Amino acid sequence: MTFVRMELEDWFDRHQFVREIELCESAVQFSHLNDLAVSLDDVALRYGHHAGSPELREVIAADYPGLTAEDVIVTNGGSEAIFGLYNGLLEPNDRIVVEHPNYPSLYEIPETIGCEVVRFPLDYDEGFVPDVERLAASLTDDTRLLCITHPHNPTGSTISEDTLRKIVELCEQRGIVLLSDETYREMGFEAALPPAASLSPSAVSLSTMSKCYGLPGIRIGWMATQNRSLIERVLCVREYVTITNTALGERIALHVLSDKHRYLSAAKDRVTANKAIMAEWIDGQDLVDWVAPTAGVVGLGRLADQVHDPDALYERLIEQYGTMTIPGKYFGVDNRFFRLGFGGEPFNIAEGLRRFDQALDDCSN
Ligand SMILES: Cc1ncc(COP(=O)(O)O)c(C=O)c1O
Repeated sequence: MTFVRMELEDWFDRHQFVREIELCESAVQFSHLNDLAVSLDDVALRYGHHAGSPELREVIAADYPGLTAEDVIVTNGGSEAIFGLYNGLLEPNDRIVVEHPNYPSLYEIPETIGCEVVRFPLDYDEGFVPDVERLAASLTDDTRLLCITHPHNPTGSTISEDTLRKIVELCEQRGIVLLSDETYREMGFEAALPPAASLSPSAVSLSTMSKCYGLPGIRIGWMATQNRSLIERVLCVREYVTITNTALGERIALHVLSDKHRYLSAAKDRVTANKAIMAEWIDGQDLVDWVAPTAGVVGLGRLADQVHDPDALYERLIEQYGTMTIPGKYFGVDNRFFRLGFGGEPFNIAEGLRRFDQALDDCSN
C-alpha cells in the first residue's frame, strides 16, 4: 500500500499562504483564538480518552436523535475518521461505490487499500444529485460500502430527505455500510437533513469543526453510528497513528459546540450574503455558469468554450492576479470546471471576482 500526495491538498499547500485572495476555500472564514473567548488555562496537557472526551462526545451526540455519547468517536478532523473507517473496515478487492466528484480522501484511500472503487457520477445536467434508480443499480450484492456527501463538495448540491431515506433503505436491504459525509449538514439554506446515523444502524455520519464552524486549525472531527463495532474499528487504527485528539482542540470544540447556534447563525448570514455576490457575478459573466449551490459554502463553476485553455487561465489567475481557485482536475473532473468558495470575507470575494473578470478577458476571444 503506497500513498501518494493528494493533488488537491498539495495545490492548497503550495498556494494558500502566498496568494492574496482565496476564491475556493471550502470552509467559512477561519476564526482566531481570541475571537472565541475560550479559557485554556486549566486544560490538562495529558493523553486524552481514545474515543474523545466524554463531555465533547455527549454534546455532539445531542444532535443525533437516538444516539448517545457511546455512539460517537471524536477524531483529528473528519480526515482521521475517514482514514480510520476505511482502513479498519475494508480489505483489498472489496467493492465500494462513491459519489463522484467528491473530496479525494473518500475514494483515493480505498483505491490505495486496493479496493474496487466505483465512482458514481453526479452530472451537471442532473444538478449534481444522484438518480436513486441508477444508484440502486450500481449497488451489487458484493458492495460493502456506499459513500455519499450532501451538502456536496465541490458542487454545493444537496438531496431531499426523501432521497436520503431511500438511500438508507437501499443500504439496509443489501447489508451495505452507508458512509454519509455530513461535513456541511449544518450550513443548509433551508432545513438541514437528518443525520443518516440517526435513521439506521447501517449508516455512519461524518462531520467536523473545520467547515461550518471555520475551525480547521483545531483538527477536530467525528464519526457517529449506532453500529459500535465500526467505532471500535476506527479505534484500532487511530491507536497506531494519533492515539487521541489534542487536548486544546477538544476544549475549543466543546466551548463552541456548547453555544453552537450563535456561531452557526453568524456564519450562515455571511455565507448567504456571499453566495448572493457570487450568483450575481455568474449571472453577469457570459464565460462562466454553474448549478447554483443549494447548501454549503462551495459551488462548481464551468467555463464556456471561448476559454480555450483552462489551465492557462487558472495559472494566470494565480501568478498575475494573486487569486486562487481549484481546477477541476484536482477533483478528477473536466478542467473546464473549477471550485468556488463563498465562506470568506465579502470584500475578498468581490475583489477576487473582479480579478477573475480580468483573467477571463485575457484568456478568451
Ligand atoms: C467533504 C469533506 N469531508 C471531509 C473533509 C476533511 O476535513 P477535516 O479533516 O478538516 O475535518 C473535507 C475537507 O476538505 C471535505 O471537504
